[in-house]
Amino acid sequence: MNSVTVINHPLVQHKLTIMRDKHTSTAGFRRLLREISTLLCYEVTRDLEMTTTTIETPLTEMEAPTLAGKKLVFASVLRAGNGLLEGMLDLVPAARVAHVGLYRDPKTLQAVEYYFKAPDSLDERLTIVVDPMLATGNSAIAAVDKLIERGAKDIRFLCLLASPEGIAKFQSVHPTVPIFTASIDKNLNEKGYIMPGLGDAGDRMYGTK
Ligand code: URA
Repeated sequence: MNSVTVINHPLVQHKLTIMRDKHTSTAGFRRLLREISTLLCYEVTRDLEMTTTTIETPLTEMEAPTLAGKKLVFASVLRAGNGLLEGMLDLVPAARVAHVGLYRDPKTLQAVEYYFKAPDSLDERLTIVVDPMLATGNSAIAAVDKLIERGAKDIRFLCLLASPEGIAKFQSVHPTVPIFTASIDKNLNEKGYIMPGLGDAGDRMYGTK
């Protein structure tokens, strides 16, 4: 069974509280999402494989640590995934980016794919799937299914909020994909929203309804 890591760093939890507050403006929500995503990115990449490279400091030569292997892939589940993506790219500017376009059918709550574009050699890269909300689990499962179909083997899933129901469903289908989240909330409501949650992440980010 995969692991679930709750990133309970004080700065993450503080920023998350402001994001949950319905009085926080669109601009404030967007800025906080960018800030929080750099902190989440820091945690999800904590154990990346390292190698060394020979460099010259102004004083001497040294073997210095550097990231090993091919560039990371951040796979954004559109549209709300893009809110996490920006801060992550601030921290790892050389990462490659995949986009997975999925919308949630409002009646069935099933994920419907409308777009997919990913970099090459997914089989040789760590892919970090980003979507702020792991709610029913359907979009997360569909995004990971698609990435596996295109060759990805080493995958992590990063979100801001997760529901217990979404985690259970995701784990039942993708038991080897670790989940990283800032919070496991109480439950899902009948419309598939995370409770207490923060509302619709895409709407909060972009000022839509
Ligand atoms: N997607 C959202 O944006 N919010 C939820 O609560 C659930 C899914």
